Amino acid sequence: MPHRNIVLIGFMGVGKTLVSKKLAQALSRERVSMDEVLEAREQRSISDIFSELGEPYFRMIEAEIVAELASRMDLVIDCGGGVVLNESNISNLRRSGTLFYLKASPRVIYKRIKDEGGRPILDVPQPFGKITELLTQRDPLYRQANYTIDVDDLSVDDIVREIIALSGKE
Ligand code: S3P
Repeated sequence: MPHRNIVLIGFMGVGKTLVSKKLAQALSRERVSMDEVLEAREQRSISDIFSELGEPYFRMIEAEIVAELASRMDLVIDCGGGVVLNESNISNLRRSGTLFYLKASPRVIYKRIKDEGGRPILDVPQPFGKITELLTQRDPLYRQANYTIDVDDLSVDDIVREIIALSGKE
């Protein structure tokens, strides 16, 4: 019997990528990273898509990918942090999936992303301020998930266990 998709949403740097990899492995499911699909489709990096084609273009392709993935089952989906900005993305993902919001504090997010590149949204002079501002805007959107998991004090394995336990209840 096919299973509902497990959909990970949340801000950049909360650990969606690592959690989705371990989760897919633990459940023997296929993992799909929306950002990776987008980069492969456009044949360029996320940063290049933003700088050469602009954010609206990125959001348009992102929505197309969401619609495609929502028509499939049995996946673990690692969503880009801005997927919630488009309301129809949420309704599409909900049709075939259970949504888990990995919630972290600005402090933890900043610590994780500060030495990484590749995130044009945070490539600004005051990344901590930007994180705080965007989290305030987006937290209510992320909260549309079926479950919210506070990840600040959890290891990746803890998060994986919790998601498996919660999706067993669906
Ligand atoms: C974005 C998050 C990124 C990526 C793009 C925009 C955002 O994904 O989709 O840089 O608006 O929050 P990750 O959350 O996987 O870093």
